[in-house]
Amino acid sequence: MPVSQVAVEFGRSAPLAAAAYKDADRLSGKVLVDGVLGPPLTNETFVVENPANMAVVANAPRCREADVERAVKSAHDAYPAWAAIPARERGRMVARMADLIEAECEAIAALLSLETGNALATQARPEMAGAIDMLRLFAGLGGELKGRTVPSGPGILHYTTRDPLGVVAGIIPWNAPVYLMAAKMGPALVAGNTMVLKTAEQAPLTVLRCAEIARHVLPPGVFNVISGYGEEAGRPLAEHPLVRKVTFTGSWTVGREIAGYVAAKLCPVTLELGGKNPNIIMADADLERAIPGVVQGMRFTRQGQSCTAGSRVFVHRAVYDRVVDGVVERLEALRLGDPLDEATEVGAMISEEQFDRCTYYVEMARDTPGARFLCGGGRPDDPDLRKGLFFSPTLIDGIPNDSPVCQEEIFGPVACVLPWTDFDDMMAAANDIAFGLAATLWTRDLSRAMDFAENIQAGFVQVNQYDTPQPNVAYGGLKRSGLGKEYSYESMIDHFTTSKTIIINRGTPG
Ligand code: NAI
Ligand code: MG
Repeated sequence: MPVSQVAVEFGRSAPLAAAAYKDADRLSGKVLVDGVLGPPLTNETFVVENPANMAVVANAPRCREADVERAVKSAHDAYPAWAAIPARERGRMVARMADLIEAECEAIAALLSLETGNALATQARPEMAGAIDMLRLFAGLGGELKGRTVPSGPGILHYTTRDPLGVVAGIIPWNAPVYLMAAKMGPALVAGNTMVLKTAEQAPLTVLRCAEIARHVLPPGVFNVISGYGEEAGRPLAEHPLVRKVTFTGSWTVGREIAGYVAAKLCPVTLELGGKNPNIIMADADLERAIPGVVQGMRFTRQGQSCTAGSRVFVHRAVYDRVVDGVVERLEALRLGDPLDEATEVGAMISEEQFDRCTYYVEMARDTPGARFLCGGGRPDDPDLRKGLFFSPTLIDGIPNDSPVCQEEIFGPVACVLPWTDFDDMMAAANDIAFGLAATLWTRDLSRAMDFAENIQAGFVQVNQYDTPQPNVAYGGLKRSGLGKEYSYESMIDHFTTSKTIIINRGTPG
């Protein structure tokens, strides 16, 4: 299918959109392997759409085993020389890459908006800034790849080193593609590994654009980017015998599959999977902060498409009506629109598949006796918005905690509110879920805050804020939410290196 040059039809953003479509067209049909941005071995492609108006943005290569093989071989060939470069020098190259991306980040953010439907002002631009920050965090950590010395007997030198693993496979989703690229390639490369990254089929372009820039500083083969479907490209990549580590972000069901693929060859894996996270408001909370904290926590400005989203909002009955009214007022004021327009706060959902998934749970909620739609519940009325995958921010109550609507990850702009009175019962309900990624409590009561922090089953716990995980915050979950931590010094050491124990015995002094 030819690439359409249709600009976003909404008007104001046309020049920005035209430049981003041009960039997309240039990247169309390409992968980055062995330092070359060019066509893959396969002739097959799939369409990348702008979810705000369903225009075709580009055709991305539908890579299969042959292209996986070529990319892994390139990473494998590049590995010995890359691992031999002093770690701080590798860090300097990653820092340089961050600088080059920063220099073009406005144009890259527009491309990111185009392929994800995320609003430029509230999402795409902050994501670029976060990704650059993430790269700089790891770039500066090269000198911290230290081992230990272990006290032993006289004449014995006993120490450990931290060594790279080899070729790392990264498999990422579409909801924050550049941020996740940075969170995976930053620590992997600085630690001395080389990488093959498979982008998500919904959003392959912006990551490829960043890899194109990286090519100016990284030796060929150190960082390769391919596109394709999960079973066809992701699976052979994870299973490849030369891949010595897999880092994955996505659904828990695919995470479980990937754990199975790597089990067969016993290689380490990091899995950053979904969440269905409690955002809990106590009767004594500062509601001036907690109410916007519900909107921010649910990531309504990313259409709720976040694993960290606080999608189960537990509100004490004493403040229930005030909180619900305050949240509804804010949700109804959010501006949905052309993602490239600076005034837009909420963009479009990524794909029809995600839109339908969201609709499925909303229909289930409608069929639930006692359920109330406090706002939203489907497409907005605006005819321009009906051309794309826009879904109004939705708040529902009256859904029992054991309903799939409250238990399963919807990954759309839909949050459930649950009233509570007894703290222990509420905590039991908050923990009664198969996920364990993030959790927040709003209170002025230090003792309750500590009860919560000690007892909540989640990997990322906050009190009186519901922020996104920043670079240097060790991020990862329990239960179905995954294995291992990312975004931090610990993640680089624990998940992108292996430890070697060395004992040198001097023997009889000569
Ligand atoms: P997904 O988990 O199917 O896809 C994520 C990545 O894994 C993509 O690059 C995909 O091509 C790849 N993949 C899929 N199947 C694979 C396989 N068998 N082997 C290797 N790689 C494979 O996620 P999808 O379909 O985009 O979204 C479905 C649901 O997953 C969402 O509704 C949401 O609940 C969850 N999700 C969670 C994310 C998170 O940040 N933890 C991000 C995206 C989705
Ligand atoms: Mg999938």
